[in-house]
Amino acid sequence: MRTLPGYSPGMRTQVGIVGAGPAGLTLAHLLHLEGIESVILEDRSREYVEQRVRAGVLEQGTVDLLVAAGVGDRLRREGIVHGGIELRFGGQGHRIPMSDLTGGRAITIYGQQEVVKDLIAARLSYDGPLLFEVAEVAVHDLDTPRPSITYVHNGRRGELECDVIAGCDGFRGVCRDSIPPGVLQLHERVYPFGWLGILATVAPSTEELIYAYHERGFALHSLRSPKLSRLYLQVDPYEPIEDWPDERIWEELHRRFEREGWTLHEGPIIEKGITAMRSFVAEPMHYGSLYLAGDAAHVVPATGAKGLNVAVHDVKVLAEGLVEWYGSGATELLESYSDTCLRRVWRVQDFSNFMTTLLHRLDVDAFEDRLQRARLEYVCSSEAAARSLAENYVGLEKV
Ligand code: FAD
Ligand code: DHB
Repeated sequence: MRTLPGYSPGMRTQVGIVGAGPAGLTLAHLLHLEGIESVILEDRSREYVEQRVRAGVLEQGTVDLLVAAGVGDRLRREGIVHGGIELRFGGQGHRIPMSDLTGGRAITIYGQQEVVKDLIAARLSYDGPLLFEVAEVAVHDLDTPRPSITYVHNGRRGELECDVIAGCDGFRGVCRDSIPPGVLQLHERVYPFGWLGILATVAPSTEELIYAYHERGFALHSLRSPKLSRLYLQVDPYEPIEDWPDERIWEELHRRFEREGWTLHEGPIIEKGITAMRSFVAEPMHYGSLYLAGDAAHVVPATGAKGLNVAVHDVKVLAEGLVEWYGSGATELLESYSDTCLRRVWRVQDFSNFMTTLLHRLDVDAFEDRLQRARLEYVCSSEAAARSLAENYVGLEKV
């Protein structure tokens, strides 16, 4: 084994995985089930990744995959299955009966950090290598069949030699930027608004998610459990969170969700933060021995609830490619990895952009406002339009 100067020859593995988010952890688990070794390197602590409040909506296909992989017991017990959503505008609610429109498919509400906890518990149950608080991660020799990852852990420099590297290190990770200039085509759209998200210890005021369009901006009522509500407000992404004391948040939520005969219940806010909205795709998702997956390769605005789901789809495709390659030496699936994933990625980009521009206050001009209103009324009055929204929202089986 050759070693980079200053690094101790450490481990050797088949698949080196950078990042222990949903993508990295799911990939490691799928590979383990097929007898393929991997090592996960994560720069944050276990506590941090297990507490990070983010997504909450799992598509039918994501739930099916986690259950089939044996990490869905708690998800099945505690996940809340929803067969519809409400679109609210003009003081009226309109239900989109997603399950009726999609032959019985549904979404499940289950916090991303719960998925992460279940996957970490599974990994540790069979002593799968998973290093937290790893610093200075760098990937090398990507254009060779012997790439490596260098890092610092517990103050010691280490080097991990691999057959392939999976870059599952999120939008701000190091893997994507390690690909030589000129290889990737980057597509990006940054929206002039963000989401202020809160978690409040109060019973949800609704049984199904409410996506509200209001002239003051978008609002979303989601939930995490019978005692925990998750709510979002469209805000200026540059506004400091300090400008949003709890009373202001509740007041704004009351205004945007206003509907006769319906009451929003308040409770203590235990978490709040502002997230920017962006669409981003790096293509191809593969260079030499490096495969990008999840947010490392693409980001969607949160309105379609797709980020986690498309990340899980990526690693399903990657795992299938690696299983074929280790099993028979055939490279077809690995070679088509990027194209296969990008088909779904662009479908999901289009849907997320559709939901975002349907429901947010866009402040373009009065003409755009009227178009937006016409689109909302169409989705709520035409079964064909509602079915299109529904099949994308619960997740298309084939793209
Ligand atoms: P990440 O979860 O970002 O994981 C990457 C991991 O890599 C992290 O643990 C990070 O610490 C680690 N890392 C980064 N750099 C390094 C490095 N140099 N070395 C080692 N490790 C590193 N998606 C949905 O599907 N449904 C939703 O309802 C939804 N709602 C959302 C709401 C909000 C407020 C936000 C912010 C996102 C939401 N998303 C949603 C998106 C979803 O959370 C992401 O798409 C998802 O986390 C992507 O998973 P990932 O594993 O690719 O990346
Ligand atoms: C949640 C997040 C989303 O982005 C969304 O569209 C619906 C629900 C949530 O965190 O529960």
